[in-house]
Amino acid sequence: MKHHDVIIIGAGAAGLMCAATAGYRGRDVLVLDNAKQAGRKILISGGGRCNFTNQKVESNNFICSNNHFVKSALARYRSSDFIELVERHGIEYHERDHGQLFCNDSAKEIVTMLMTECEWAGAKVKLRTEINAIVKLESGQFQLTTDKGELVCDSLVIATGGLSMPKLGASPFGYHLAEQFGLKVLPTHAGLVPFTWHSDQKIKFEPLSGIAVPSTITAKDGTQFSEALLFTHRGLSGPAILQISNFWKPGETISINLLPGIDVRAAIGLVLANHPKQNLRNSLSHWLPKRLVEALFEETLLNKSMNQLIHSELEQVAVSLESWEILMNGTEGYRTAEVTLGGVDTDELSSKTMEAKSVSGLFFIGEVMDVSGWLGGFNFQWAWSSGVAAGQAV
Ligand code: FDA
Repeated sequence: MKHHDVIIIGAGAAGLMCAATAGYRGRDVLVLDNAKQAGRKILISGGGRCNFTNQKVESNNFICSNNHFVKSALARYRSSDFIELVERHGIEYHERDHGQLFCNDSAKEIVTMLMTECEWAGAKVKLRTEINAIVKLESGQFQLTTDKGELVCDSLVIATGGLSMPKLGASPFGYHLAEQFGLKVLPTHAGLVPFTWHSDQKIKFEPLSGIAVPSTITAKDGTQFSEALLFTHRGLSGPAILQISNFWKPGETISINLLPGIDVRAAIGLVLANHPKQNLRNSLSHWLPKRLVEALFEETLLNKSMNQLIHSELEQVAVSLESWEILMNGTEGYRTAEVTLGGVDTDELSSKTMEAKSVSGLFFIGEVMDVSGWLGGFNFQWAWSSGVAAGQAV
């Protein structure tokens, strides 16, 4: 039976980072993955340019049942550390809104960088390997039965990610393993995911597909994001929707301000004073695409001139524009979600090392645990930081 100091299951963002870190410490590291290619989610991330971190990372950019859990690992491996690594590998990058950092060229560069780091650190990566069973031996070591033979290791790191994008090989492997060892797994659901229309909404709003407008969206718990809103064939998407989806629960409405930064009542008052004969359709079309205006309001209302509209009608218009309360059907689910909310309960793990408190030598890193970031490079930063934390301890 081949022995390794450390076996990491999952050659994704967290697993590769952990492997390089442990390898540089002189540990004999093997990374196993059942996929044909390492880092597949990295390759498709950020529209192929990988939003690999964010300039400003704070614990409140993460959703976790215990928000203090992320602090230690994030403080010990910061976004500036990852930026320094990226620069050392000569990868050019740029900053977009809200401190998001993207590769100038391609996400492939990040995977190449991680694979190079693993090679330099002496960590081996073995792909196309199915893990059929794992047991903890009396010696305290872990025995793995794979389709390529039996392996044994002192430290076992689970970096198999969440359930989002099953076509990229996402699997519940990590959750099942946690349960096998008696660890609690919190219920999972899709995060950073577009919303879908109810059938009657679809008839009305599908023709708006492709329209993007600035917005401020508020969830029932008061969480608010000001970013672009995108109408799609299936429902609503865009950064504002993806962000708010992390805070939305089925059956809850969301409130959309379609004119963020504008005092809607004052603006309507000005149009009324300056262009009293202009109809509502043309008045609103100064601020919003005409097709959206026509979908939001009845034809009879839109055809009225501003000075024909009674106070309650003007108020109805203002309310619809600044707090459009909408009940969506649901989300597109794991098929298109960027992350999985929930997962291995962080109460079961050490926030310093990511090791299970009740199973020595067993570690969980990255998205498999109950830590999800906002949109903006935070999920990769969690993969890097938690990967390094475990890599320093295995
Ligand atoms: P990750 O999913 O990266 O890796 C898990 C690995 O485990 C995979 O290689 C998989 O094959 C392997 N595995 C799974 N089951 C296995 C099994 N049974 N046996 C063996 N191996 C198994 N985040 C961000 O910060 N910026 C961004 O730009 C984006 N963009 C983005 C776009 C899209 C389309 C998606 C789906 C996601 C993002 N994300 C993102 C989120 C980000 O990709 C995600 O949070 C990290 O990849 C999580 O890293 P992990 O290493 O935990 O899992």
